[in-house]
Amino acid sequence: MWGGRFSEPTDAFVARFTSSVDVDKRLYRQDIAGSQAHARMLHAIGVLTVKERDAIVSGLADIGTEIEQGTFPWDPALEDVHMNIESELVARIGDAGKKLHTARSRNDQVATDIRLWLREAIDDVDAQLSEVLTGLTDLADAHTETVMPGFTHLQSAQPVTFAHHLMAWFEMAHRDRERFRDCRKRVNVSPLGCAALAGTSFPVDRTMTAHELGFDAAAANSLDAVSDRDFALEFCAAASITAVHLSRWCEELVAWASPQWGFVTLPDRYCTGSSIMPQKKNPDVPELVRGKSGRVIGSLNALLVLMKSQPLAYNRDNQEDKPPLFDTADTLLDCLQAVSGIISAMEANPSAMRAAAEQGYATATDLADYLVRKDVPFRDAHAIVGKAVAVAIERGTSLADLDLAVLEELCPAIDASVYDVLSLEGSVAARRHVGGTAPDAVRRAIVDAKRRI
Ligand code: ARG
Repeated sequence: MWGGRFSEPTDAFVARFTSSVDVDKRLYRQDIAGSQAHARMLHAIGVLTVKERDAIVSGLADIGTEIEQGTFPWDPALEDVHMNIESELVARIGDAGKKLHTARSRNDQVATDIRLWLREAIDDVDAQLSEVLTGLTDLADAHTETVMPGFTHLQSAQPVTFAHHLMAWFEMAHRDRERFRDCRKRVNVSPLGCAALAGTSFPVDRTMTAHELGFDAAAANSLDAVSDRDFALEFCAAASITAVHLSRWCEELVAWASPQWGFVTLPDRYCTGSSIMPQKKNPDVPELVRGKSGRVIGSLNALLVLMKSQPLAYNRDNQEDKPPLFDTADTLLDCLQAVSGIISAMEANPSAMRAAAEQGYATATDLADYLVRKDVPFRDAHAIVGKAVAVAIERGTSLADLDLAVLEELCPAIDASVYDVLSLEGSVAARRHVGGTAPDAVRRAIVDAKRRI
């Protein structure tokens, strides 16, 4: 389709090396929609007759049907999805088909296709994230009173409610969804009509095609519109952050599901066995989600390096944008499906969580706060409680099991009311401010969260 000036056929290796149809054929729906919009616009500005326009629009629709049915003759020699479809159109409808590429280049065509494709991918991610968010609030609803250890440095720190922990995940996923929604605004801008780089000498109506394709606007600069892929970078960056979040949750799930922790039971249908150890039930699904984050981050990196130092305007380097972009969307959607499946099917084990929370002196801060309320300066209180912990360790008991006499000896300000703050329930219930772990505070947070989904 471009061989006019060439005096020998393309080297077979070069043909294979430059071909992208195996990857970009998944843009066929967007490519056809873009071409139909372009043909309608060309008619509106007097470049195509009604007959030519209709032949193009219906010829493309037929091709779309064949592609869907799997009968379309893809030809790697025709480089990419654009030339495969266009040459088939010409084969079917003749000269009218040859006019379709007026006032257009594959450079604005492919940029348009990718943006249309990515817009849909973002909407799919958005829907999956909404499922995750709903699953989290449902599970949290059932566990506002379930106490577990909260950790810093993976050491028991202070008791929290399981619902509070789940709602921390909610906040991460909610910001993730906002990032994708924000990215969508910059994706949804039309390059169509920018042609190769400088625009076209035809009086194209770019607003018409932009609207027909559901874009918010026509891109303002033709050089920029055909060449930059920052919108794809934004998507991959948002996906990487989401993947990192999911890897953190899955790290916890893997630990929680082990018999040593026993905080949750994963459903059998989400686990796999061992070919040698008959007793095994492995959390391969969360492990794979954790592992696939590497792939998503790698794709972001690939795309960043691909774009780095590219001069304006279009360069063939850009053809390499699709594998990482497609893989990012596919991988992320799978990971989100895996995680929402786990969240809706896993069972929490409140007694194991409670037993763990009872270890590790998790209410030590509450004891220090208690002393502060008895007018002991916080630093002194911290030192006194440190001694209490040392005594408890020595005697092999919890803080709540220390005799009042022992505690009084450490600090005369202590009286029997201390045991209220040393209980797990007392500890969590005291943190009832906005963002706190108290059952009441978390219940309010869940109501608010459901409104935000
Ligand atoms: N297949 C190319 C891509 O994906 C589009 C074609 C642009 N080719 C060109 N020689 N200007 O970027």
